[in-house]
Amino acid sequence: MTIIDETAESFGPQGTGQPLLEVRDLHVEFTTRDGVAKAVNGVNYSVGAGETLAVLGESGSGKSVTAQAIMGILDMPPGRIPKGEIFFRGQDMLKMSGEERRKIRGNRIAMIFQDALSSLNPVLSVGYQLGEMFRVHQGLSKKAAKAKSIELMDRVKIPAAAARVNDYPHQFSGGMRQRIMIAMALALEPDLIIADEPTTALDVTVQAQVMDLLAELQREYHMGLILITHDLGVVADVADKIAVMYAGRIVETAPVHELYKRPAHPYTRGLLDSIPRLDQKGQELYAIKGLPPNLTRVPSGCAFNPRCPQARDICRTDVPPLFPVTERDGGELAGRGSACHFWKETIHG
Ligand SMILES: Nc1ncnc2c1ncn2[C@@H]1O[C@H](COP(=O)(O)OP(=O)(O)OP(=O)(O)O)[C@@H](O)[C@H]1O
Ligand SMILES: [Mg+2]
Repeated sequence: MTIIDETAESFGPQGTGQPLLEVRDLHVEFTTRDGVAKAVNGVNYSVGAGETLAVLGESGSGKSVTAQAIMGILDMPPGRIPKGEIFFRGQDMLKMSGEERRKIRGNRIAMIFQDALSSLNPVLSVGYQLGEMFRVHQGLSKKAAKAKSIELMDRVKIPAAAARVNDYPHQFSGGMRQRIMIAMALALEPDLIIADEPTTALDVTVQAQVMDLLAELQREYHMGLILITHDLGVVADVADKIAVMYAGRIVETAPVHELYKRPAHPYTRGLLDSIPRLDQKGQELYAIKGLPPNLTRVPSGCAFNPRCPQARDICRTDVPPLFPVTERDGGELAGRGSACHFWKETIHG
């Protein structure tokens, strides 16, 4: 049996050799009253400079926990990393000292969260909080830091930035606050941004604007971007490749447009079928039946089997590895993998 090696260059950016970030066989467990919850169960993914990886999956699939492990902000305990490596520019961050990690977290990798209001300090002006990045990390004077803050607010297209720099977070709309979060993340020009559901709390039109801005800045600064979302609709235009997670594992990987055209996992197909489409107004939306498993008691075999319309005996007994997905005639499909015993019939019919 061949198992796809996602760490291979074919899945990373072309021609750059080493990816910016590479997660290898990452496992994260939580001790809970119910037992040990395997939240992340052998995840592999990589992202290069200038590349956007979308990580997709229903609530509880392990998207945020993987990101927290990368950032070094996991709650430990109850969390634990029994196995795995997280390489940043070729160095395993899990083997670094706390000090080395903090340096990377402050300067090289930044994170944007869903909820700006709880990430920003309500009693400090936006300009002060942005300026702090420059005062603390770059030793700039108050005046220079303020000038930089205004420049950044301009960069993220906050109207009348100079007039609003002393305003407080609650004086901005949700979309503007999310732009401020993006500005904070950009302040030190990181190599990698991890955006965890950055637009989920916003309404649909504002979502698109904020997502476009993020994509534009990512291209301009040539950063790597990991975009975590449970909304397939938002990633089509901005991501290069997608990793679909289910119950702590990656069940499908593919370049973004290929995934939409030809999913190779029944779970991905279910997610795609549940996106509302303008050309099918009035039709009832498909929903994947059932719920994701309790992570302390994941079903044997493929974790998706109880919900899968295609499940057969082997699916209830054998955990499917991430198989390389090929054309019908065996032709290579770069970067594609599916953890389904029946990937062939799923993609080729
Ligand atoms: N501090 C914690 N203690 C115990 N369990 C945790 C903790 N943090 C996360 N988990 C569990 O890990 C699993 C994965 O959670 P995670 O937050 O990564 O999901 P997610 O894919 O980001 O979902 P969502 O779309 O809801 O954000 C969940 O079952 C969650 O309950
Ligand atoms: Mg999450």
